[in-house]
Amino acid sequence: MPEPQTLRYQLRHAHASQPGRHRLNYLTPTEFRQQHHTVPNRAVPPGVIGSKWPVRVKPPATLQTTWHRLATPVMNNDFSNLLKRHRSIRRYKPDAIDPTLIEQVCADAIAGASSSGNLNAVSIVLTRDASRKQRLYELHFEQPMVLQAPLVMTFCADWFRTRQWLRRRGARDNFDNLIGYHVAAFDAIILAQTLCLGFEARGLGICYMGTTLHSMRAIAELLELPDTCLPVTTLVVGYPDESPQRRDRLPLAALLHDETYHRPSDEEIDATYAERERLGWERYMAVPELKAKMQALGITSLAQFYTSEAKYDPDVFRTDSAALRTLLESKHFLT
Ligand SMILES: Cc1cc2nc3c(=O)[nH]c(=O)nc-3n(C[C@H](O)[C@H](O)[C@H](O)COP(=O)(O)O)c2cc1C
Repeated sequence: MPEPQTLRYQLRHAHASQPGRHRLNYLTPTEFRQQHHTVPNRAVPPGVIGSKWPVRVKPPATLQTTWHRLATPVMNNDFSNLLKRHRSIRRYKPDAIDPTLIEQVCADAIAGASSSGNLNAVSIVLTRDASRKQRLYELHFEQPMVLQAPLVMTFCADWFRTRQWLRRRGARDNFDNLIGYHVAAFDAIILAQTLCLGFEARGLGICYMGTTLHSMRAIAELLELPDTCLPVTTLVVGYPDESPQRRDRLPLAALLHDETYHRPSDEEIDATYAERERLGWERYMAVPELKAKMQALGITSLAQFYTSEAKYDPDVFRTDSAALRTLLESKHFLT
């Protein structure tokens, strides 16, 4: 029986109610359960991701050329295996990355990532220079991979270029506001993750730097970012010098909601986090300095660790959030 997450993407078509048109749907988790619990051996029909048309339905003749191009399934084991191979990499070989490869991955990702209004409100600043990397290393709380990885990529929510264009064409100004910030930040994150897949497909490793959000102002200054342009995330990229274990995820059922939000009961929370608590605790306790720190802080559970001063300290989050609000204002994202 296929896993629910695979099945979720299987397209089914129902055109009886709309003659001549083909409506596509995903199987909902409930439908999945109903169909596969009652008929466990049922074959799953092939589906197409990103296509307007299901494989087995022919569109009108005028659309057939597009249909052939779009309806060719690209979802095969290679893509699934690529995702399964993902691990954040925190140790890198010193080998430089061929600039042509960097450019190619960037070009592919920019062309293949969706972008709000296709305005491409994003800029990526590449850092390879040792002294600038040293400074970024300090701003990223001295995470060693910033120095080790040959490439650091800072993804910026960027309206500066667009607004300059609008001005030059006599159009009304926009995007120097909170929605503008979100739109550009989403574009930046979507592009970052698309790039990750491109690099990983070529055997390189990546790791996100969440510390970007805590050092936004200083990173913006270092990279000389203009008005309405702010860093939202950072990737370190390079050739892996480690082969870490695959990290667990919370169970799919906890993340997927069928039509409306399902509020988990206490028992469901316990079940959802049981494996995470076991694996996470084991992993952190295997690091002697961390174990000692947790003991010193009186931490007795993974949840306590997460919001302790050793991980995501709420006081730091509050202070840095206030600083972020001020920064958004000074960069004209709060008008
Ligand atoms: C937005 C974001 C920020 C992250 N920041 C950091 C970071 O600062 N340092 C780090 O070591 N890992 C960072 N990570 C990596 C996560 O810890 C990692 O993705 C998670 O533990 C799951 O592990 P995996 O990516 O190997 O599957 C970040 C991931 C994301 C998506």
